[in-house]
Amino acid sequence: MADMAYVNGSFMPLGEAMIPIEDRGFQFADGVYEVIVAYEGQPFLLDEHLARLQRSADGIVLGLNCSSLNLEGIIQEGIQRSGYDDVLVYVQITRGVTSRQHAVTTELTPSVVLTFKRKPIYEPQLRTEGVSLETTADIRWSHCSIKSIALLANIMIKNAAKHRGFFDAIILTDENEVLETSCANVFVIREGVLQTPPASDRILHGITRGFLLDVARKEGIANEECAVDLEMLLKSQEVFITSSSIDIFPVRSVDGITIGDGKPGPITRRLLSSFPKLK
Ligand code: PDD
Repeated sequence: MADMAYVNGSFMPLGEAMIPIEDRGFQFADGVYEVIVAYEGQPFLLDEHLARLQRSADGIVLGLNCSSLNLEGIIQEGIQRSGYDDVLVYVQITRGVTSRQHAVTTELTPSVVLTFKRKPIYEPQLRTEGVSLETTADIRWSHCSIKSIALLANIMIKNAAKHRGFFDAIILTDENEVLETSCANVFVIREGVLQTPPASDRILHGITRGFLLDVARKEGIANEECAVDLEMLLKSQEVFITSSSIDIFPVRSVDGITIGDGKPGPITRRLLSSFPKLK
């Protein structure tokens, strides 16, 4: 009896299983999963689990017909190979392996990984006496200031924007306040003042953002960290986005509405020259 894994077509002992570093599941949490229990070798509620797996795959636009994977057969074989009676089967499907970037620009082959372990045996008191719980706020996922690899929502935003012909999307609060894009911070210039949303838990505190605020302070460009609502942004003279990989990209339009005269403005161009290779 042994813990087993299945990785893209092959079974192996769990400890020998490996996936490439650039698997999107590893770098972006760009995938879906199921946990299924088998009692005495028989998967319990298998159809229901596979139907939810398909719904989850459709939900992240994986473009995958799970029935083409023969998961029932793989699960049966894995259970037998593990030799356990009661098995915890873990199924994970990620978008696949590609050079790291948020947007998916090529057709990928999803990675299919399963593990087969003995179902945990819990202390009998947990059922006879019950367990104690506490309450908490719903923090799922309200810590955008943590540079976490759980980027599935960002991926979905970026891919949907790309699909509709945009470079990216500005994420808004329910009150139409600007937060950031899927992978960059947002700046606007209104009446000569450089403005960017405050460094709250709702945005990543970009290193480039901080650098540019410092540059603005040193160069005497009026600047302010303040709430920026969509209406203000659309009336700005200049808008740009920032990140370590793009430095500054000027924004020429948002939702089809031209910003300023539709060309990179003077403050954006001045700030661009603070990057080593863009002087
Ligand atoms: N992303 N906001 C989000 C959601 C980001 O993912 C990033 C950067 C930024 C800008 O942060 P910085 O200036 O520190 O790069 C803002 C990186 C580049 C990425 O995931 O590829």
